[in-house]
Amino acid sequence: MLNVQTVPPAKDILTPEFLQNPHRVCAELREETAIHRINFNGPRWALVRYAECFKFLRDPRLSSAGRMRLLLSRLPPETRSSFAELERALEMWMLFLDAPEHTRLRKLLNKGFSPAVAEALRAQVEALVDGMLDAEVPAGAKRIDILRDIAYPLPVRVIAQMLGVPASRHQEFVNWTNAIALFVGSPTTNEVAGAAQEAVLALTDFFCEIVADRRRHKGNDLISILIDIEEDGHVLTEEELYAQCVMLLFAGHETTRNLIGNGMYTLLKNPEEMANLRRNPEIVRMAVEELLRYESPLQFVTRVVKDELEIEGVRIQAGDSVLLFLRAANRDPRKFEHPDRLNLKRLKNDHLAFGAGAHFCIGNQLARIEGQVAILKLLQRFPAMRLASESPEWVPNFALRGLRSLVVEV
Ligand code: HEM
Repeated sequence: MLNVQTVPPAKDILTPEFLQNPHRVCAELREETAIHRINFNGPRWALVRYAECFKFLRDPRLSSAGRMRLLLSRLPPETRSSFAELERALEMWMLFLDAPEHTRLRKLLNKGFSPAVAEALRAQVEALVDGMLDAEVPAGAKRIDILRDIAYPLPVRVIAQMLGVPASRHQEFVNWTNAIALFVGSPTTNEVAGAAQEAVLALTDFFCEIVADRRRHKGNDLISILIDIEEDGHVLTEEELYAQCVMLLFAGHETTRNLIGNGMYTLLKNPEEMANLRRNPEIVRMAVEELLRYESPLQFVTRVVKDELEIEGVRIQAGDSVLLFLRAANRDPRKFEHPDRLNLKRLKNDHLAFGAGAHFCIGNQLARIEGQVAILKLLQRFPAMRLASESPEWVPNFALRGLRSLVVEV
């Protein structure tokens, strides 16, 4: 039996100030203790140090299933049933499953995301970025918005290309994934859940048509690969296939956009390091790892406790939820020397920006390539680039940290 204890009152740390500058709050929490009680759609436990995040991301007693139900549980019971379709669709996402269902889907999807597949996409990503810089940035432009011109369209076009769907619909994709992101990362309301449900259903219909067409005309895109895949006698069901396509579009877009936006913002705020990268483009891989650590696109991931357990002497009940603050872990001085200093040549950079354990980001190689290509090309194309405003606005989303726009003078 674990010791009985009183649960501390939950702190309100997720405020508008936190959106502007999460680092100060994270540092204070990290110094105080490894585990806290905070409010986010109700009271939750929060882990803020590297060692505990690293350990519990791998602990099967913390479940990835049931996270969606948790978000919806904050809605009044009389309206919850209106979101049954949203719940059902998201609960099929591999991201929200545990072993053995997760393991089966992950094995199938891994085939489409090997490092070799991602690396083969590098030339296509380079061509896409060149094309966007030529088409979207008129010659002689004095200002560009890095978010609008590159960071928003690039990840959608890349994943659309991988799935073999027309990029002409990318603005619709962006709107749909934004609606899902708001549901995942902000306080749940009927309105937010309604918009997310509409988006998920629209995307599912869209992929339903694409899959039917692809069955007739297979190519070498990811959907054709997934249709063909057969491993250990298991295949994806039709519904699972649509759900994973929607998940990939969402997961590949919202995060990578913020890698490019947050990364460029960080470089512009650190001109010496930016100049260092411009002079030494061969360090771009290390540089992107450091940008992922320093200004991580995903603030936290959530887990639901399956069996009662103890973390740092605190008893956590089954059914409780835990937020693992990747961002706070990535600036933990117990793990990283001078964590608040941007060092593009940092060695041993074992950051947790892509998570860890069974759900470690399947798209990490692809995201890294998109980040490396976009950031380097922007630096090369605009050698005199500087921020048009010292304090751009952050999107009001507590889980996904990103800028609304990033206007620069070129
Ligand atoms: C910089 C960009 C990215 C970041 C920071 C990021 C971060 C993460 C993190 C932290 C997780 C673990 C979630 C958890 O443990 O609950 C994750 C999972 C996942 N990511 Fe990414 N991601 C990025 C880009 C991408 C891309 C480009 C794709 C696909 C095209 C993608 C697809 C996924 C999927 C499918 C999962 C679920 C994996 C599983 O459940 O086994 N991500 N990502």
